[in-house]
Amino acid sequence: MNSTLELMQQHHSVRSYQDKPIPAELLDAVLDAAWKSPTSINGQQVSLVVVQDAARRQQIAAIAGGQPWIAQAPVFVTLVVDFYKTSLGVSAAGAEQVIQDSVEGFAVGAVDAGIALGNLMTAARAAGLGVVPIGGIRRNPQAMIDLLQLPEYTFPIAGVVMGYIDQDSSIKPRLPRESFVHHEHYQRAALPASISRYDQTLASYWQQIGRSDGLPWTANTAQYYQHVYFPEVAPVARKQGFGFER
Ligand SMILES: Cc1cc2nc3c(=O)[nH]c(=O)nc-3n(C[C@H](O)[C@H](O)[C@H](O)COP(=O)(O)O)c2cc1C
Repeated sequence: MNSTLELMQQHHSVRSYQDKPIPAELLDAVLDAAWKSPTSINGQQVSLVVVQDAARRQQIAAIAGGQPWIAQAPVFVTLVVDFYKTSLGVSAAGAEQVIQDSVEGFAVGAVDAGIALGNLMTAARAAGLGVVPIGGIRRNPQAMIDLLQLPEYTFPIAGVVMGYIDQDSSIKPRLPRESFVHHEHYQRAALPASISRYDQTLASYWQQIGRSDGLPWTANTAQYYQHVYFPEVAPVARKQGFGFER
């Protein structure tokens, strides 16, 4: 198999890192890979904020609810949905930007940031680094906004930890492929059986890696999705100038 495909099929998040800096040239090459990502209407409504300072990484680890790998690894990159940059362009063209006042705006920004996040992770792993994406920063988005000095019309949507791996992790199985790849139309009939099969697959996986606290997919997903687990996202996004009524 082609080495890029192999690398991507072997994705696994890493939560144990060496105290070893990433050479500047290597980090720049990884960041450049994300910089070249496609964006909707070529709006380029994504910015990266790269944090390497140890004290600031410690602060981000706390903001994200106590995630030690953020403090441990040498680099934390925040993906920022950035309609501030575009607002300067729209003003320069003599118009007023309103896209941030819509669900479409937030959707576009989140998709584009997700593409950049994916490219960052693939590039970092191709460069021999480990990664783990971090949504935990949305637990307290205002603290991230203050720490990174983010202007209006921006939002810290996710982050990614990168560094040299200390203890590697294993590849986590996914829901059966047919529940992911649907042919011609959405195939809902097979889903309950796929889900039940996956609970069993995950139970064996947790046992195999010695994780007695591992939950079935159904219970883990319920734990999160029975409430809005990051309730600060909407009010803080509104404070940043985003709107969701249009
Ligand atoms: C957008 C996003 C946010 C995530 N946030 C966190 C996080 O805050 N902390 C963490 O340890 N893992 C986080 N993860 C990693 C997921 O838990 C992980 O991808 C999932 O369990 C599958 O495991 P794998 O990445 O090892 O295949 C996040 C993943 C994504 C895609």
